[in-house]
Amino acid sequence: MKALEVIPAVLAKSSEEMRAKIDRVTPYVKTIHIDMMDGKFVPNTTLSTDETAKVLVPGKYYIFHWMVEKPEEEIPKLGKFAKGNLHLVHAEVLERERWGMLKGMGIELGIAINPETPLERIDDYINETEEFLVMSVHPGFSNQKYIPDVEGKIGEIRKKKPNANIEVDGGVGPQTVGGAAVAGANRLAAASAIFGKEDIEKAMLDIMGAAEEGIADVQENK
Ligand code: DX5
Ligand code: ZN
Repeated sequence: MKALEVIPAVLAKSSEEMRAKIDRVTPYVKTIHIDMMDGKFVPNTTLSTDETAKVLVPGKYYIFHWMVEKPEEEIPKLGKFAKGNLHLVHAEVLERERWGMLKGMGIELGIAINPETPLERIDDYINETEEFLVMSVHPGFSNQKYIPDVEGKIGEIRKKKPNANIEVDGGVGPQTVGGAAVAGANRLAAASAIFGKEDIEKAMLDIMGAAEEGIADVQENK
């Protein structure tokens, strides 16, 4: 089984907010999920890519979650942060030409998929990456309610890709993470369940503990 990892999701509207959030989690994690929105693919915007590149600190592994229509136009704006980090582009904007262009950039690439998008949408690409993200809310905002139905999709990807990283994103917290982990998610992204708490370290341990417990319960009942 792939090792579980709790990953803070940073959705920021200003440089100050992004810097503050990164600073808060930096002592505890090596991986940080950065939400990037263009106001077109989703009805919300975040700090621009140029500004983001100025605020990021070196030495972390960034997972960029590109909720944008044209990731190929944004990724180069990250400069030195483009390579050595992971870029998750949405299934809903995937087409051959775009995928080819992104691959040509020599970056690590993965696929994010919305709750209502069937897995068939990525059939043609599933063997071209080992990095997936399954949205468990409709993208655009933090603090929404987890949609348990997506666990079916997590399970399907896990069956096809036993060694892939599968990230679950949206409404993840101690109450919901068990189901996602049991279905096969190993990367557990959370914003409000981490940043909404005073004790960041404890918040992350609580999510990890609930994920491990969920898996242990299933194993015991086998
Ligand atoms: C939603 C973003 C998520 C979000 C998670 O569009 O992709 O990463 O920030 O927030 P929570 O954990 O609060 O649902
Ligand atoms: Zn995200």
